[in-house]
Parts: sequence; structure tokens; C-alpha cells
Amino acid sequence: MRIFRTKAVSTDDCSGGSLKRCLGALDLTLLGIGAIIGTGIFVLTGIAAATQAGPAVVLSFVFAGLACAFAALAYAELAACVGGCGSAYGYSYAAFGELIAWIIGWDLILEYAISVAAVANGWSGYFANALTAVGLELPDYLTKAPEKGGIINLPASAIIILLMALLIAGVKESARLNTVMVSVKVLAIAVFVAVASAHVDPAHWDPFLPFGWFGHDAEGRPTGVLAGASIVFFAYVGFDAVSTAAEEARNPMRDVPIGIIGSLVFCTLIYIVVAGLLTGVVPYTELNVSSPVAHALQLLGIRWASGLVATGVIAGLTTVMLVLYYALTRIIFAMSRDGLLSPWFSAVNTRTQTPVRVIVLCGLFISLVAGFVPLGELAELVNIGTLFAFVLVCLGVIVLRVTRPELHRPFKTPVVPWFPILGALSCGALMAFLPALTWLRFVVWLLLGIGIYFAYSYRHSRLAD
Ligand code: ALA
Repeated sequence: MRIFRTKAVSTDDCSGGSLKRCLGALDLTLLGIGAIIGTGIFVLTGIAAATQAGPAVVLSFVFAGLACAFAALAYAELAACVGGCGSAYGYSYAAFGELIAWIIGWDLILEYAISVAAVANGWSGYFANALTAVGLELPDYLTKAPEKGGIINLPASAIIILLMALLIAGVKESARLNTVMVSVKVLAIAVFVAVASAHVDPAHWDPFLPFGWFGHDAEGRPTGVLAGASIVFFAYVGFDAVSTAAEEARNPMRDVPIGIIGSLVFCTLIYIVVAGLLTGVVPYTELNVSSPVAHALQLLGIRWASGLVATGVIAGLTTVMLVLYYALTRIIFAMSRDGLLSPWFSAVNTRTQTPVRVIVLCGLFISLVAGFVPLGELAELVNIGTLFAFVLVCLGVIVLRVTRPELHRPFKTPVVPWFPILGALSCGALMAFLPALTWLRFVVWLLLGIGIYFAYSYRHSRLAD
């Protein structure tokens, strides 16, 4: 039964953060917004509207947001009571024991690594567009993955290498830089909302449900509002990253729950407005492009706004990648410190004071994936991994309430066990709407992880002695 050994609840196992206890509730909310708003709203909304949900993509956002809200409440409770920088990995170690914790940690590695690659794809679409606008058109074979008719998505691959260099040099998420970037991103959205509001043609919302609630396209891929929700769910990925910053919060027990829930509420509102406007200003059939928000403004003939929004998006997506890339190294760190991954990973370079090995290894892997796999497939894989983590976090709240009733819980999920149960069910339902191939990839990844656990982690765990 050693695979179920649990780790004591403690918040002292983080190291490597440069922002010691300096983040307040507002900083954490901004951190969340920095990590959340990205490719999901700026790119996938268009793809989901055009191919899966039509104008009803707004409802897809509502459904995905609801599932996230339940999960966010569960995250808030565990972040405040279990703490630690390993996020869901750490909570599972306390609630379910080592094997499940390992599976979640392994799953989070997938979530964060692949989401950085996916956001790089979204970044590349806007970047190529910006180059075209100044007369420097990149050929298709350098901006598309092989499956989409190209050879490599070079900008996506290259931006990761650039971020890798930045992280090695010691660029960490600093609250001030993040605040500036978040402002730029929110400004871009504000410009879009202001301009688009004046050009809505309600005729574009009719038919509102061209794909119905659920169905299949000619290739057997799921369509409809709920399938759309399982894709645009990607737009919400990242609020859990707030919980990885618990160690840098001044008052984590109060501020982390505020940061998680505050950023989620803010982003949900923005998503509903942007998705509604995007499908209201141009026919949804026009939106299956790599930079739909800028494209819609272009179709309206408002070139200045299109350029401005595109610039904001490029800056905004860069922060998403940085925060998620950083969170990825955090998770690997936590797992390595616990002995579940080789200590080789948690070595910090003495000169740069950064975990160079992890950064380089992750960077090369993400760069390859970003260059050769198209966005849609990456997003689906991220979503299945994240939803799985959310299901376990929801269940973790219930388990810990039963097994550790005495724990101090500064924030309590309301209506337990029903809210966590609804969270687990709604996240599970969104998983069910993802394509079979995504499930297959996910299961292969998990089996690989379980193999590594029994071959290595089980014996090397710090709890083994
Ligand atoms: N939620 C983040 C995005 O949409 C990952 O880019």
C-alpha cells in the first residue's frame, strides 16, 4: 500500500522563487489574467465558432466557465489549506497519496508543456499576420505544421527558443512587467469591444445554433455547443497557475482564493462579450483563420484597430507562454524535490541561479511540438489533461473533508459535497466530448507515466525511507 503514502500538509517545500512574499490579492488576480487570456479567446473562439458551435460559441464559453467555476472553488480551498507550489500535484499528495499525486504531476507536465506549444501556435498566427501587414509575408510552408500543408511552424518554434533564453538568463515573472503586459492585453480587448460594438449586425447571429447541441461532422469529430465548450475550455486554462504562486503571496490563505476566483470571473465576462461580438460583426463561417479577432476587424475595413489589436495580442500571448513555461518548471521542480523525478532536474545553475537543465529540456521539447503539431490538436490534449486534474482536485476537497476534518480551512468551498461533485461531473462531461484520438494520446501519456513511477519514482521517493 506504499503507493498510497501521503505527504504531510505543509507549505514550506518551495524554493527558487525570486518574489518572496511580495504578491497581494490584486497582483495574484493580474497574474491569473496574465496566464489566462490568450490563444483560447484570440484564436480558438474563431475556430470553434466556424467548425463546431456557430454563434452559440457564447454558450460554449458559459458552459466551460461554469465547470471551471466549480473547479476554481475547489482549487481555492486546497490552495489555502494545503498550500505548496506544486498546485494540484501537491494537493493530491496530501489527499490521495503518492501514486495519484504522481499521475497528476505527470498530467500537469503535459498540460503546461503542451499549452505553451499551443499558445506559441496562436502567437505565430498573429505574428505572421503582422509581418504580412508590413509587407514581409512568410511562405505557408514556414508557418504551418505538416498536417496543415506546411513543413514547420517556424515562428512558433522560434519564440519558444527565445523564451527559453530569457528564462535561462533569469527573467522571472515579475509583478510589474506582468501588470504592464496585462494592461496591454486588456487594452487590445477594450479596443476590439469598442470598435466591434458599433458594427454588430444581429443577422449574423441567425442561425444561432447551426451545429445544434451535439453531433458529428463528416470526419466523425464531435460538433455542437458542448464539443465547442470542450475546445474553448482552453481559454480558461491558467487560473490554476495562480496556485503555483502561493509561496510568493503575502497572505496566501486569503489572497490566493481571491486571485483564483477574481481572475476567473473577470475572464469569463470578457470571453462572453468578445465571443458574442466576434460572431456578431462577421459571419461565423469567416472565422476559421489563425488570427480571427484581427481578421474580423480587417473584414470590417478598420485596419488601424486590426493592427493595434494584433500588437496587443502578440504581447499578451508572450506573457501567457512565460507564466505557463515558468509554472511547468515549478511542477517539475516540486516532483524532483520529492524524489519522484531525478534530482538531476532540480539542480540550479550556480552562475545564472536558474534551473537551466529543466528550462532547456522543456524548451527543446515544446519547441519541437509547437513547430510540428497544429493548434487544434494541441489544445484538445491540454484540455483533457487539465480537465482530468480539475476532476481530481474537486474530489480531493471531498476526500480531505472526510479524512482530515481538523485542517484549518481559511477558504471553504460552499455546498460541499455538491459543488465539488458538480465540478467533477461537468469537467468529466467536457472530457467526454473530446475526440477519441485525444483520449488515446492521453491514455498513452498516462501509461508512460505509470511505467516511470514503478520503474523509478516508487523507489526514489523521499517518503520511501
Ligand atoms: N488560457 C490560455 C490561453 O487561452 C492558456 O492561451
